[in-house]
Amino acid sequence: MLLSSKCCFHYEEYKETADWLLANTDTRPKVAIICGSGLGGLADLLDKKKVVSFITSLLPHASSVQGHKGQLVFGELNGKPCVCMQGRFHFYEGYNIATVTYPVRVFFLLGIETLIVTNAAGGLNPRFNVGDIMLIKDHINMPGFAGQNPLCGRNEERFGVRFPCMSDAYDRDFARMARETAQDLGCDSFLQEGVYCMLAGPSYETIAECRVLQMLGADAVGMSTVPEVVVARHCGMRVFGLSLITNKVVTDYNSTERANHEEVLETTRMRTEDLQKLVSNLVLKM
Ligand code: HPA
Repeated sequence: MLLSSKCCFHYEEYKETADWLLANTDTRPKVAIICGSGLGGLADLLDKKKVVSFITSLLPHASSVQGHKGQLVFGELNGKPCVCMQGRFHFYEGYNIATVTYPVRVFFLLGIETLIVTNAAGGLNPRFNVGDIMLIKDHINMPGFAGQNPLCGRNEERFGVRFPCMSDAYDRDFARMARETAQDLGCDSFLQEGVYCMLAGPSYETIAECRVLQMLGADAVGMSTVPEVVVARHCGMRVFGLSLITNKVVTDYNSTERANHEEVLETTRMRTEDLQKLVSNLVLKM
């Protein structure tokens, strides 16, 4: 079995994973960072690193993720204890939504209070440029519209309430601190703020879909992040999110531009250092 067929997990399963991690690591972080595609370099900045592969740490309950390159890196970022997740479980890879969000509940049980999410995204807002960094001020949970909300099913009160509020999903104090930090670092010329929309992927959007998303008020589109944020807010974590605008989506039938993964990776390489600087300086202030 390559992917877990379980579509929900019990509290005890998350707890067992968290207890295993607590027994096998010394750092006790309050901040977890989920590093998006190509943004895992952040974990290399940690001192006193302890690396745990997903296979070791999330098995057996997020079960059988053979071949997944992801790992958790525990350590200190500028002296502040952190855990970085390098690589995430994407819905488009075939993981169910419970597996996609499994690490976040484990983080909660480890004592994490703040979740930082980063991702690569396509720019829908015509004012955005490739290479811009967007503070996520809100999201549109498109898979949620289609019944793929990670909180569907019996509610586990030990994580949170049945009907959690999402109008304050992204912490406004952190966003303000990030704007100040960007200014201090000289990154404010390419800092944007906007709404992130998640689609399941893996196909990129059609022109008609991009136009719909623009009409809905989305500024950037990607294939991750939202389920993790919903679960993090359910259990009361504070959330801060950044999207790296790796490409501009195509909205014109006369355009010869094509969304492609190579452009996404190239932009990520170009901006990865700025993004790392921004996050590591922000973590210090949190
Ligand atoms: N669409 C969806 N996901 C993405 C894109 C995009 O244009 N760019 C990077 N991730």
